[in-house]
Amino acid sequence: MEKKITVLPGDGIGPEVIASAVEVLQVVGKRFNHTFHLAYGAIGGAAIDQYNNPLPDETISLCEQSDAVLLGAVGGPKWDQNTPELRPEKGLLRIRKHFDLFANLRPVMAIPSLLGASPLKKEVAENVDLMIVRELTGGVYFGEPRMRTDDGAIDTTVYSRKEVERIVENAFHLARLRKGRLCSVDKANVLETSRLWREVVEEMKKRFPDVQVEHHLVDSVAMKLITNPSHFDVVVTENMFGDILSDEASVITGSLGVLPSASIRGDNFGLYEPVHGSAPEIAGQGVANPAATILSVAMLLKYSFGLKEEAAEIERAVNAVFEDGYFTADLARDGDRVLTTSEWTNKVINEI
Ligand code: NAI
Ligand code: MG
Repeated sequence: MEKKITVLPGDGIGPEVIASAVEVLQVVGKRFNHTFHLAYGAIGGAAIDQYNNPLPDETISLCEQSDAVLLGAVGGPKWDQNTPELRPEKGLLRIRKHFDLFANLRPVMAIPSLLGASPLKKEVAENVDLMIVRELTGGVYFGEPRMRTDDGAIDTTVYSRKEVERIVENAFHLARLRKGRLCSVDKANVLETSRLWREVVEEMKKRFPDVQVEHHLVDSVAMKLITNPSHFDVVVTENMFGDILSDEASVITGSLGVLPSASIRGDNFGLYEPVHGSAPEIAGQGVANPAATILSVAMLLKYSFGLKEEAAEIERAVNAVFEDGYFTADLARDGDRVLTTSEWTNKVINEI
């Protein structure tokens, strides 16, 4: 297979974890006889410095010519005082919107050798294997009007039936590929958009008789997610609820450094990035944990290119290195040997 990937390293530890992930990608390519052509572009603070624009046209056109995009992270204190249009995260919002990446996938999987780092009891966190599917391009973050009034402020949640249908359909397909269970989250006792959401799920489940569906209110699911996380398979929800629940779910495993994500649309194109940010305080020291970005490469291979075996090999290698007791500083406990970013990456590469 021959594919084009645009690589956007971004800021802070972004370039370091991206360098690791690209090495792993190329090794997998070699082993399985694929050719991945990489084109590097600028986004975030790096793009502001170079183009005075967090998402320059040059970057958009690179992405348009690619089959998938791999991104590091954006942001840092250097740009914190900028005007809203010239802030690094504006680049992220705009790339998602430009490519209509309406589905954000965040898998959360318990890694046995890391359970000690979870704030949850071992017996609660073990066996967790869930995926939050968050609607990413609609809802209150984009709805109009959004304004200050004389005596207050207004935000607006807007969803069209079509917007709800496409994300819900995506989640049904994912549930079918996983354990066949779908939990739809809303606030249908209060919100009209939530009543529409629930209606769409109820209609669509007739087309997916093999998927078991349940509805939960967002407040109760927020509790259940930490008291009984292994109950869940695919959890689908609107933009703001998904924002909150996916951050909540990310603590189950105990480390931001191991969580990948994908932002996709109906076809094969997608944007893949670690859940964590640019960690400016540890940037440039060679100590960042590259696991989340390496696992994002696995998602890219699986969801954009259909390369399931290759993706599974990356996941296996990462788990094996953890099992062998090798960790970067963020995960190491007393007595563990602490590896640098590139030492840890080499362990994964040797494993593959
Ligand atoms: P962060 O995720 O960058 O860092 C949170 C904590 O986790 C820090 O202690 C950091 O050192 C640690 N950490 C994160 N990733 C790590 C890794 N791979 N290895 C080892 N340790 C890791 O979030 P924070 O500190 O809130 O934000 C820092 C900057 O990142 C800000 O400018 C923020 O806007 C940006 N950010 C960007 C995101 C993105 O590009 N998608 C997402 C979240 C934040
Ligand atoms: Mg968030």
